[in-house]
Amino acid sequence: MKIPKRLQPLLDAHMIEDVIGQLQSGKEAEVYVVRVKGELCCAKIYKEANNRTFKQKTQYTEGRKVRGSRRARAMESSSKYGRQEREAEWQNTEVDALYHLASVGVKVPKPLGYHEGVLLLQMVTDADGNPAPRLNDVDVTAEEARAYHLDLIRESVKILCAGLIHGDLSEFNVLKAADGLVIIDLPQAIQATANNAFGLFERDLSQLAAFFGRFAPEILETNYAKEIWKFFENGKLKPDTVLTGKFEGSNRKADVRAVMSEINDAREDEMEKRGFRNK
Ligand SMILES: Nc1ncnc2c1ncn2[C@@H]1O[C@H](COP(=O)(O)OP(=O)(O)OP(=O)(O)O)[C@@H](O)[C@H]1O
Ligand SMILES: [Mg+2]
Repeated sequence: MKIPKRLQPLLDAHMIEDVIGQLQSGKEAEVYVVRVKGELCCAKIYKEANNRTFKQKTQYTEGRKVRGSRRARAMESSSKYGRQEREAEWQNTEVDALYHLASVGVKVPKPLGYHEGVLLLQMVTDADGNPAPRLNDVDVTAEEARAYHLDLIRESVKILCAGLIHGDLSEFNVLKAADGLVIIDLPQAIQATANNAFGLFERDLSQLAAFFGRFAPEILETNYAKEIWKFFENGKLKPDTVLTGKFEGSNRKADVRAVMSEINDAREDEMEKRGFRNK
């Protein structure tokens, strides 16, 4: 195929050998299938700052560690410089998070390099060797929903033990690979010590519960976020901490309502991201 301009520097640097085709073009990034050392991989091209919307993103930047006050000030401002800085920070966050999480055994695609605003990463595949579908695109039985839910709770705990929160965990950012689920799309990952960390963690888990609760409604009754957070705050959270999904003092009715409102918000966000409007 015709080489996309943004991938040319990677060909020139011999980081990729060939461009096979385009996988997906979203609002945030374009994903291509490329060949690296004879193997098919993904190249995620981040869109330029001025082509992107930064609406809804500011809450995420709050939790990042930013060195240098000029840079910190710039990130807070809405000047062009501030936007570019925020963009760079956004891209690096995903690269850093992927290397870190892959190294501690979280199921994410293995990062293979980053060059000129393009992230190279292992292609997640289905049983036929094709790019794996998103959870949102596959049929899920009640039994699978329960197993996947627990699996992703476990991965969220591992991520938290590694000091991070995904920040946009949902059925749209989990792929169903031949050998299990793989979590993708981490540009908005935040430090677990950030002010708004619990809120984002709870939202991540609510989005998962809302999705899997469609197939196994009892999942809507669980409350893992508060239980996990209590262990975390007390310095007692381990990747294999035994969890019940119950939290003392939790008000179930309120929890279900919160989950239902989360699912609506998530759906509206996703529709808006994809250029649909509700009305
Ligand atoms: N490593 C990978 N292996 C296979 N497919 C991938 C991989 N990374 C991304 N994809 C595909 O590309 C899509 C977009 O990737 P990603 O979610 O990282 O970017 P995005 O900018 O958030 O896109 P969107 O706005 O659609 O969520 C994914 O939904 C998935 O279908
Ligand atoms: Mg995505």
